[in-house]
Amino acid sequence: MMTAQVTTRNEAARAFLGKAVSKAIETELLAVAHYRRLAAIAPNEALRKRALGDALEEASHAHALARAVRREGIDHVVPAAWGPELDGLHAAFEACASSGDIAACLVVQDLLLEAAAINLYEALARTAAGADAFALAALLDKVIVPDERMHLADGLRDICRLTPTVAMRQAAFDRATALLVPAMRGFADPARETGCAEACGSCRNRCLKLDACDAGETVGSGWGTYLLTIAAAARSIGLRPLSVPA
Ligand SMILES: [Fe+2]
Ligand SMILES: [Fe+2]
Repeated sequence: MMTAQVTTRNEAARAFLGKAVSKAIETELLAVAHYRRLAAIAPNEALRKRALGDALEEASHAHALARAVRREGIDHVVPAAWGPELDGLHAAFEACASSGDIAACLVVQDLLLEAAAINLYEALARTAAGADAFALAALLDKVIVPDERMHLADGLRDICRLTPTVAMRQAAFDRATALLVPAMRGFADPARETGCAEACGSCRNRCLKLDACDAGETVGSGWGTYLLTIAAAARSIGLRPLSVPA
């Protein structure tokens, strides 16, 4: 006789957290690489120092996340590098870096990718708290989300310094979003009843979306929330909201 396997919401949440934290560590490694690259091509010492400092913080996030899930007894894998589904994000950053377009580099990493990190980590903090993973929730709420918000804030300041007119800033923003947003779009949430691979085809068996649904969570509460986060940041430095399909 077959016994149905019952997965509780708590078990589903912990399974999602294990997978999501592994993915988050990959994005931290990507951010480390971007900030190091930015430091290498920075046009002034202040930006070089800020980028090196942020690279160190992103590396410390990766270590702290791995420690926290281990402490919570959550099954996880600690990746040594980012996976292929993040290659498109890196290619967008590298296209800006290799052409010496520092302002667009800042828009990609400090604005567009940090906004995604903030949304993802806020969602993970909620899930962690709901699954009694309090050390992980505290790490996310009290350390990592505030750090990512500072990266965004520092980036907005540096974008304004490098592009002193709104027209220059808008042009840099448009160059960066044209490269990054199509690569980002694959991470938008599918409808809950839709299989992930059918919606974007980009994540293969490493996708988080269906695990998130099982845990009663949507990653970042969806594409709409991400666009709102970007729009608020863009408006704060005088830019038009992003004009991409919701
Ligand atoms: Fe980080
Ligand atoms: Fe960050």
